Amino acid sequence: MTLCLSEARPDPPETAVDGVWLSCIECDATFAPFEAVRYTCDDCDGLLEVRYADLPTFEDFEGELGVWRYADALPFEAGVSIDEGGTPLYEVPTIEAETGVADLRVKHEGMNPTGSFKDRGMTVGVRVAERLGVDRLACASTGNTSAALACYGARAGTEVLVLLPAGKVAAGKVAQASLHGARILEVDGNFDACLDVVSDLADRGEAYLLNSLNPFRLEGQKTIGLEILEQFRDQTGDLPDRIVLPVGNAGNTAALYKAFRELVRSGALDADDVPTLTGVQAEGAAPMVEAIEEGNDEVHRWEEVETRATAIRIGNPVNAPKALPGIRETGGTAVAVSDEEITDAQRALARDGVGVEPASAASVAGLRKLRESGEIAADERVVCLTTGHLLKDPDAAAAAGADPEPVPADTDGVLEHLGE
Ligand code: F0G
Repeated sequence: MTLCLSEARPDPPETAVDGVWLSCIECDATFAPFEAVRYTCDDCDGLLEVRYADLPTFEDFEGELGVWRYADALPFEAGVSIDEGGTPLYEVPTIEAETGVADLRVKHEGMNPTGSFKDRGMTVGVRVAERLGVDRLACASTGNTSAALACYGARAGTEVLVLLPAGKVAAGKVAQASLHGARILEVDGNFDACLDVVSDLADRGEAYLLNSLNPFRLEGQKTIGLEILEQFRDQTGDLPDRIVLPVGNAGNTAALYKAFRELVRSGALDADDVPTLTGVQAEGAAPMVEAIEEGNDEVHRWEEVETRATAIRIGNPVNAPKALPGIRETGGTAVAVSDEEITDAQRALARDGVGVEPASAASVAGLRKLRESGEIAADERVVCLTTGHLLKDPDAAAAAGADPEPVPADTDGVLEHLGE
């Protein structure tokens, strides 16, 4: 199997620059990293991965928690940065007690500068764009990628174009892309159609693509996995057994797996200690779950997708060839949850003080479901990833929460309303 945990450490090819190169995960062709714009393999169109001659151990990580603490695991010493990463790993006592696992923490990626994990990918990806000297950045997005790219593109002083599925992006995300100055194109089609169009624009040289098909984005997102290991060990003395995460394009699943593979290869982590990767999708958009359940080598695109968790309303997870081995090789699984289960989990997280958007709550909904089925055992130490902030989708939050109660503008009237 490609991308296995026991892979030998590759020797740098002649194309390597400062010990960094690109490698095709299908045919092993290698390419120089920063000489030409390239998203997939020239020979077979397979997905590309960034490879390094030197892989770090935990002792190499220095400085404050955040993406650039992990510079030794990244292609640059510094990026276009607004202090991304270093997000909290919260205890969630009520959900921990209810699900009855040995230890439960929530890694809240909603606490990034633009309110989602996408910032980790953009600090690296926009830096690569600078190095390549491109003058227009673009992405398709269910919202968060567009907010992050608009922000980081603005910071770098580069034009940004975002393609969004019309009427299917949460209000907070459109507002962010707008205020940070991106040109917003509303496409009459779903996210997958937006990605088809923007990939075509990129192939024609009209823009530099910063979707997670871009291998450099995933390098930044690896740091979620590195932070989880360090924080969990600091807080509990152990490593987590399992990480449960929402899946859309499966970029995070691929990125976390890559982070752990590299630690195994550097000798910093025992292969048996790699956390089990467990993906969660919404029932109305679950092609990865289908592939895992049916044991397929490939994911089949769903043309029709629907879910309240609009961030993961995706039928064609482009990183599946990297993510499926990640789930299988770590002994993980994938599960689909209903919109009702997602909203219930969003409320449960809110009761524990963690405000998230619907897609993020899918991780906790998945944990609940897999505890009920017995797939996740009571002695497990689990981390749920929550990917985006509550304020990203104010409409969903208001619909899941309590309604405001109109009262008169006097104290007696308020007390009467309160029934006191
Ligand atoms: N959670 C949130 C809040 C997201 O915005 C996304 C993806 C995911 C989970 C899925 O992550 O793709 O790595 O499996 N959002 C993309 C976007 C598609 O355009 O903002 P994945």
